[in-house]
Amino acid sequence: MNKIEWTDLKYLSGFGNEFASETPSHPNALPKGQNTPQKAPYNLYMEQLSGTAFTAPRETNKRSWLYRILPSVKHFPFKKIDNGLVTHNWNDEEPNPNQLRWKPFDLPSNEKQVDFVQSMATLCGAGDARIRHGVAIHVYSCNVSMVDKAFCNSDGDFLIVPQKGCLFIKTEFGKMAVAPNEICVIQNGMRFSVEVEEASRGYILEVFDNHFVLPNLGPIGANGLANPRDFQTPVAWFENVKAIHFKIILKFQGNLFESHQDHSCFNVVAWHGNYAPFKYNLENFMAINTVTFDHADPSIFTVLTCPSLKPGTAIADFVIFPPRWSVAENTFRPPYYHRNCMSEFMGLIKGNYEAKKEGFQPGGASLHNLMIPHGPDFDCHRNATTEELKPVRVADGTMSFMFETCLGLAVTKWANKTCEKLDGEYYKCWQTLEDNFSKLSV
Ligand SMILES: [Fe+2]
Repeated sequence: MNKIEWTDLKYLSGFGNEFASETPSHPNALPKGQNTPQKAPYNLYMEQLSGTAFTAPRETNKRSWLYRILPSVKHFPFKKIDNGLVTHNWNDEEPNPNQLRWKPFDLPSNEKQVDFVQSMATLCGAGDARIRHGVAIHVYSCNVSMVDKAFCNSDGDFLIVPQKGCLFIKTEFGKMAVAPNEICVIQNGMRFSVEVEEASRGYILEVFDNHFVLPNLGPIGANGLANPRDFQTPVAWFENVKAIHFKIILKFQGNLFESHQDHSCFNVVAWHGNYAPFKYNLENFMAINTVTFDHADPSIFTVLTCPSLKPGTAIADFVIFPPRWSVAENTFRPPYYHRNCMSEFMGLIKGNYEAKKEGFQPGGASLHNLMIPHGPDFDCHRNATTEELKPVRVADGTMSFMFETCLGLAVTKWANKTCEKLDGEYYKCWQTLEDNFSKLSV
């Protein structure tokens, strides 16, 4: 990759704003006062990207106008390809009601060159992109850049969580560099390409229903959690590149298709609108929690949520467990023992997760599906019930996260068997928990 291309990237600040951006080399590329003049400035083509129904209420309506060298429609027909890893076939495997934990997913070996889209593997999911209801959770593990190739998802929005290696992402809206401890969202229909400079690994949450929004703050007030101004959207950038075989890889109804065209799709000279990709640095999250007693529910750490039609119930929440102070008095401070009507998928970007110091490693994952019991292991419980409670720092040097969904998740064959990372010993971390009640009764 050409590193110079990625220095001094500029971003637009704010969540869901009406942005307008022109490449500095082409001032006034945006038409004045209208979207579709008879002829656009610089002889560009005018193309709308609709992220919601035309008639969606104003407060949720999402669309952007792209002014580009050639319209997206100029491409050769799509043909199905199969990387054997991406799927929406949720019935391939028998349901597995156990607590599941995966060891870190393999990084590609030096002998094998694999790019972001080639490496994408579906771990679990539910629902159907055709009826716009469901989620899928994928991982990627790649060591080369996508060259003359872009990816586009027709099924939903991607929330990408890099765990190792910075992702240098070209989009139709401009360029973003997304390092571990940052996340980005690339919405339905947006074309993007990923460059890497080392073996890189991470997680992807895909939602079919809706777009991610900031959670309501209720009595917290007007500020806190993820503040809108910390979200960063790329500025317009384009490349006028003719290519013999520029590939578009399309995820469509859970399958991958490939088409080619004679030019780069990153040919948007200017754009405006409120439907655009963004990134966010997790260090900017203002954590709020108890200053008296009891363990607050993890929803207090929600960064972004994709709401369902059921009030207060998310198709998927993206929740983090950041470094913070723990000060609760007379309280069992770790996460409580729990059975949940939501599914909890967890990953670890770095450090040690507070409820289980062993076994859950950066680049690995766990899944506690609908109503599957989970909670702290023996050591964590013993320490938390016996230690002197003073104000302490927790999770320093750590960033774990949760994708929480109201859907029951089916685990794919790749996750269950092929990847060979499923930890058959996971249940053992609770087997040493003792009956302390009977000891008292004796
Ligand atoms: Fe839980």
